[in-house]
Amino acid sequence: MKRKPIMAGNWKMYKNRDEALAFIYQINEKLPSSELVETVVCAPAVYLRDLVKRQGDNLRVGAQNMHYLDEGAYTGEISAGMIKNIGVEYVVLGHSERRAYYNETDETVNLKTKKAIESDIVPIVCVGEELSIRENGTTDKVVGEQVVKAYKDISKEDALKTVIAYEPIWAIGTGKTATPQQANETIVAIRKVVEGLYGKDVADRIRILYGGSVKPENVVELLSTSDIDGALVGGASLKPESFLALAEAAS
Ligand code: G3H
Repeated sequence: MKRKPIMAGNWKMYKNRDEALAFIYQINEKLPSSELVETVVCAPAVYLRDLVKRQGDNLRVGAQNMHYLDEGAYTGEISAGMIKNIGVEYVVLGHSERRAYYNETDETVNLKTKKAIESDIVPIVCVGEELSIRENGTTDKVVGEQVVKAYKDISKEDALKTVIAYEPIWAIGTGKTATPQQANETIVAIRKVVEGLYGKDVADRIRILYGGSVKPENVVELLSTSDIDGALVGGASLKPESFLALAEAAS
């Protein structure tokens, strides 16, 4: 089954507006065609609108988080309606940094995923295990449970509007990449869980990305596996030349 690859950069809390605009002016014209790869930059919320206004034909813009409610007295929060209204098309949900530092739980990830779908925003739903889980051999079980909880009460049709990102926590920002075989094996296991929930057709069609110290030097090998459909990249997405190389490799 041929699935369209996605190369998504997650800038986390890096780059001011000037740096962000300089970045996209540098890459806009050089990116591979969006017919070959979906290239997404998930940026800090304060200048998402500025990026949307200047994104080239082959670049899409994503947020890094959103609330699951439509509106309310939630100081500092941003709703799906707000990011949709300014033209944002993707949102990263349940990133391990948000789970670790901002009380994101499987339940809030589920609520946010449903709200993103309802708002016509593509959720990139992150799952992943700690090193201790990898070492005690329960990765598939732990990651599988995260998937089941994230997709609670989500229909088959809606599940296909989402993207999953498998990001082993021990490989994020550490320089330790999961081997292509390790990453692919876990993604195959995630696809099995999706098959259990929605059947083989959805499991074959849903896109599942790998994230964790992906860089131009290792991306080709990761993407040449059977089940990895692209990457969610932190550090290596911050430099235009490196992000371009990643997008090119995925195309
Ligand atoms: O969202 C991206 C991941 O946290 C990976 O970050 O590429 O810097 O390891 P990294």
